[in-house]
Amino acid sequence: MSVRYRFPVGFVWGSATAALQVEGATNSDGRGPSVWDVFCRDHPEKIFEGATPDMACDHYHRFREDVREMREIGHNGYRFSISWPRLFPDPRGPVNQSGADFYDRLIDCLLENGIEPNVTLYHWDLPHSLGETGGWECQETVDRFTDYARSCFARYGDRVTLWSTINEPGWSALNGYITGLHPPCKQDQGAFVRAATGLMEAHARAVAVGHESSPNAKIGIVLNLSPIHPATPSEKDLDAARMADGMLNRWFLEPAIRGEFPEDIMYLYESRGILDRRLDRDLIRKGTVDFLGVNYYYPHHASAAADETAFFLNTSGRREEACQFSLAGLFRFVPNPEGRFTDWGWEIDPEGLHQSLIRADRYRHGIPLYVTENGIGRQESLIGETVDDSERIEYLQSHLKAVHRAIADGANVKGYYMWSLMDNFSWLNGFKKRYGFLFIDRTTLARFKKKSAYWYREVSLANGF
Ligand code: BG6
Repeated sequence: MSVRYRFPVGFVWGSATAALQVEGATNSDGRGPSVWDVFCRDHPEKIFEGATPDMACDHYHRFREDVREMREIGHNGYRFSISWPRLFPDPRGPVNQSGADFYDRLIDCLLENGIEPNVTLYHWDLPHSLGETGGWECQETVDRFTDYARSCFARYGDRVTLWSTINEPGWSALNGYITGLHPPCKQDQGAFVRAATGLMEAHARAVAVGHESSPNAKIGIVLNLSPIHPATPSEKDLDAARMADGMLNRWFLEPAIRGEFPEDIMYLYESRGILDRRLDRDLIRKGTVDFLGVNYYYPHHASAAADETAFFLNTSGRREEACQFSLAGLFRFVPNPEGRFTDWGWEIDPEGLHQSLIRADRYRHGIPLYVTENGIGRQESLIGETVDDSERIEYLQSHLKAVHRAIADGANVKGYYMWSLMDNFSWLNGFKKRYGFLFIDRTTLARFKKKSAYWYREVSLANGF
C-alpha cells in the first residue's frame, strides 16, 4: 500500500470492546449480576428485539481465538474493560478467584501476541447490589469502586501500563439519570448532578490509588467529547450550546485535565438548586490524568427552543424513527439539516473528531491522547465468508485523516482503537447494529473477518494509508 497519511512511530492500531457487550458467560464461574443484566431481564420491551447480554459473543470462552484474530488484523493494542461484577459478585465481599483468573489469562495471551492492553475499569456494568443501594448517587459506590480499582492495580499492574478509569461518565450519568434510557432509568436533574459528581470522585480515587500502587501506570479516563454546535448563530442558541457543553463535556473534561470542576456550571447547578453533593475539591485535584481517551461518534447541534422534556433513541435502524433529545428550559438537540446520517440517525462528521482532539490538546498541550472509540454501526450480512463493508472503510479513512490532521496541528495522538473488534451487544440496540471488524454469526457465534479487517491490517502494517 502506498502511504500518503503516515502516523508517528509506535502508533497504536487497535480496537475496543466492553465486558458486558462481548463476554457473555454472565452466570458462569461465580460472576454476579450487573444492573444491565437485571434491566435487560426485567425490561425486554426497552431493548431492540428483547436482546440480552447473556451470551453476547462468548468472548469469555473464545478469547484465545479473538486474540488470534486481533493479531491477524495487525493489532498492537486492544482496549477492553474488566467486569466489576465478575471480579466482585458481592462488591462488599472478597474477590472471585475464577473471574480474576480470566483477566490474567486474557492479559497474558495479549502480551504473548505483542498486543498492549488498555484496560478500562468501568464500562457501565455496575454490580446490581450497588444499584439497589443508590448507584452513583451514593458515597458507598465510590468507596467500593476504590476497593475494586485497588485490587485491579494490585493484580494486573505488573503487566498492564495503560489504564482508563471510567468510560464516558457523562453519557452514563445522562442516560441513567436524565433521559432514563439506561438503568437506573431516572429522570431527575438533581440525581444526574449527584451521579456525575460521584463518577468523577470515583475516577479521582482510582487515579490516586493507581499512582500509589503502580508508579509506572499511565492512568486516563475515556470521555465522549462530542462537539456541541449552536443550531443557529443566534445568541440564544449559542447559550444553549454553551450550557449543553458545560453539562455534558466540561463537567468531566475539566476535572480530568485541570483537577477542577468548571465554576460556571457549578454556579448553574447551585442556582437551579440541584447541587446538593458536597464537592471534595482536594480529591478532584488528585484525579488529573496521564492521558485522555477520546470517544467520538457524532457532533450535536443545540437549540434553545426546548419547551418540553422528551427523549427517544432510534434503536431499530429504521430511518423514520428520529432521535429526540430535549430538556425543557435548557436545550434541545436538533439534526443538522445538511448532515449525513447512519440508519440509526447518527450524523457522520469526521471534522468533529479533529475538533475534539484539538480541544483536548488546548486544555493541556502535549497531553497524550488516544482515540478510544470511533466507528459506524451498520446492518450487515455475510456474503460467503466475509462482509463487504466498504462504507466502514470509507468511514475509517475519513476519520483517520482527521486524526492525522490533528497530529499535524500539534496534538499528541498516540493511538486509535476502532469500535469495535466484533459485532456485539449494542446496549438498547441489541444485536442488529453491527460495529465489528469481525462479523459474528448470531446462531453459531462463528467469527468472519469483514473487508475492513483486511484493510485495517494493511494500514497497521504500513503505519498509515
Ligand atoms: C459508546 C459506548 O458510547 O458508544 C459503547 O462506550 C457503545 O459501549 C458505543 O457500544 C456505540 O453505541 P451503541 O449504542 O450504538 O452501541
